[in-house]
Amino acid sequence: MKALTWQGKRSVSVEEVPDPRIQGPTDAIVRMTSTAICGSDLHLYEVLGPFMDKGDIIGHEPMGIVEEVGSSVTNIKAGDRVVIPFNVSCGHCWMCRHGLQSQCETTQVRGYNSGAALFGYSWLYGSVPGGQAEYLRVPHADYGPIKVPQTGEDERYLYLSDIVPTAWQGVQYANVPEGGSLAVLGLGPVGQFAARIGRHLGYRVIAVDPVPERRAMAERHGIEALDLHDGVAEELRERTDGRGPDSVVDAVGMEAHGS
Ligand SMILES: NC(=O)c1ccc[n+]([C@@H]2O[C@H](COP(=O)([O-])OP(=O)(O)OC[C@H]3O[C@@H](n4cnc5c(N)ncnc54)[C@H](O)[C@@H]3O)[C@@H](O)[C@H]2O)c1
Ligand SMILES: [Zn+2]
Ligand SMILES: [Zn+2]
Repeated sequence: MKALTWQGKRSVSVEEVPDPRIQGPTDAIVRMTSTAICGSDLHLYEVLGPFMDKGDIIGHEPMGIVEEVGSSVTNIKAGDRVVIPFNVSCGHCWMCRHGLQSQCETTQVRGYNSGAALFGYSWLYGSVPGGQAEYLRVPHADYGPIKVPQTGEDERYLYLSDIVPTAWQGVQYANVPEGGSLAVLGLGPVGQFAARIGRHLGYRVIAVDPVPERRAMAERHGIEALDLHDGVAEELRERTDGRGPDSVVDAVGMEAHGS
């Protein structure tokens, strides 16, 4: 099959690699129909390079059609359409039972003190081959994959793999008071979703991003959008009666421009 592989710092390429095969009873093989690129992939492209091997398959926002399942997978079957979450979690350990699947104790990469294994995400997260490929082996497929309807564009479901739940949970953790104000820093995919979720929940949302097209996209959805400049903190205070927004979501991440 063809897959997108990491070749070195700032270098990725599509290469011919062996097709994945079922290796254990809880595996599934999924034929990819869509896969997104994440801001998190940029970390691999540059800063996390020392933890990558040449040839690693990247990608963790995939969906597709189940081709084959292992003997103990009963929740999905060949032909089902599924979205695959970024985390590889077992569903039955203490962390999974407490809703902390990103810390799954079965797949946790203890050697690096990191959390649950992640698709396509370096030694730090288990070196699990990722989904920017024609086929993906999904470990713990008896728990992870989300079955979605057969109809509708992939784009309707794809973002369940990572950025919609990330943005939703970020807004939940921000604990915005009823009818309150929320600042969203960064208007990449995660920030766009966090801002729209904030509007959906009835909050006033003020976002900050240096890219005009990203601000314009947010403004089309009822979000106030500010350019990044030295006085932006003061501008946020001015727009909120001098007190500042009630809550903040940082959706910029590691490669911030300025502070
Ligand atoms: N499950 C998770 O925890 C999870 C999931 C997805 C993404 N992430 C992380 O969330 C972050 C955002 O992801 P993304 O895909 O939206 O990335 P992105 O790179 O597309 O977006 C980042 C945005 O921040 C803007 N920005 C840069 N510096 C800024 C500053 N100082 N102030 C305001 N805006 C600034 C950029 O212009 C860009 O629009 C990344 O760090 C990513 O790793 C985490
Ligand atoms: Zn992602
Ligand atoms: Zn678990």
